[in-house]
Amino acid sequence: MKRIAVLTSGGDAPGMNAAIRSVVRTALDKGWEVFGIKHGYDGLIDGDLMPLNARDVGGIIQQGGTILGSARCPEFKTEGGRLTALQQLRRQEIDSLVVIGGNGSQKGAQALSKMGFPVMGVASTIDNDLYGSEITIGVDTALDVALEAIDRLKVTASSHQRAFLVEVMGRECGYLALMAGIAGGAEVIVVPEVETDPEVVAAELRGAYERGKGHGLVIVAEGARYNAEELGNFFMDHHERLGFDLRVTKLGHVQRGGAPGAFDRLLATRLGAAATDLLSQGEHGLLVGLLKGEIAATPLADVVTNSKPLDLDLLELARVLAK
Ligand code: ADP
Ligand code: F6P
Repeated sequence: MKRIAVLTSGGDAPGMNAAIRSVVRTALDKGWEVFGIKHGYDGLIDGDLMPLNARDVGGIIQQGGTILGSARCPEFKTEGGRLTALQQLRRQEIDSLVVIGGNGSQKGAQALSKMGFPVMGVASTIDNDLYGSEITIGVDTALDVALEAIDRLKVTASSHQRAFLVEVMGRECGYLALMAGIAGGAEVIVVPEVETDPEVVAAELRGAYERGKGHGLVIVAEGARYNAEELGNFFMDHHERLGFDLRVTKLGHVQRGGAPGAFDRLLATRLGAAATDLLSQGEHGLLVGLLKGEIAATPLADVVTNSKPLDLDLLELARVLAK
């Protein structure tokens, strides 16, 4: 009988619970024992494991967050931390580990894999910045949450002929901002990948009013050089010259806390099942994700050495659509 462990790591994402449930129940179906590790790599280093049975993962498919808890664990970035983690896995006689998480978490998974331990990654982050999966668990729900807020702000913006700025998550990646901007009908989208001068933002908004629009909407990623704070200050400082205010809303963690929608529940379920299927075939050192609409596995070594660029053609399309 095989003994596998599962953990969730990094920023939580709606659908992580559905992935845990799928890993647990598909592994049990293979006759394996399953253990949940609390709080990501922190719990792994501390040996914080608990057995999971089918009932333990009941009623969680519709819940946001992760029942296992998650963490940022600087210690796992050190060789000493990873050696302790490895010792814990050996002591508990775990045969393989499933890591549900984003970019950093999969770097950790690859580091453990390179030390000779069988690891399977499951692509999950609202940032959608992971090579090896065109969409990751949590993105769809996070976008829906952002859009609900954006749609409401647009209503009041139109009533008052105002300009609004909405900051969405994404420290290094503008995917959420770009997609929320397109789907929310933004006049301007500001992403970390393209430095956008505040004067350009002001000119775009002014242009929108001159074309007869009754509102202006700017979507900015938190990691952009000119983010909500910088742009808000700029518009305040130059209020007289620009002739209008920019009201700022930061969505922050609201985007991460939503209950997963159908897409994320199904993606997480399929990826969790693929992870245990591949392990049962003796495969490891892989990330399971979605490529060209199909479940596909990519070597973790490739995942951590490649990045997924933002589609800048879509940024140009957004500019055209804002006319
Ligand atoms: P996410 O997985 O959502 O991108 P982080 O980047 O914070 O989140 O990574 C989650 C955790 O993965 C980190 O706190 C750390 O424990 C581990 N990790 C990140 N980068 C590395 C690395 N280069 N080597 C080993 N572990 C890493
Ligand atoms: O990794 C997902 C993410 O939500 C990023 O978009 C964001 O920059 C970061 O996590 C925030 O991290 P924390 O919750 O640790 O502040």
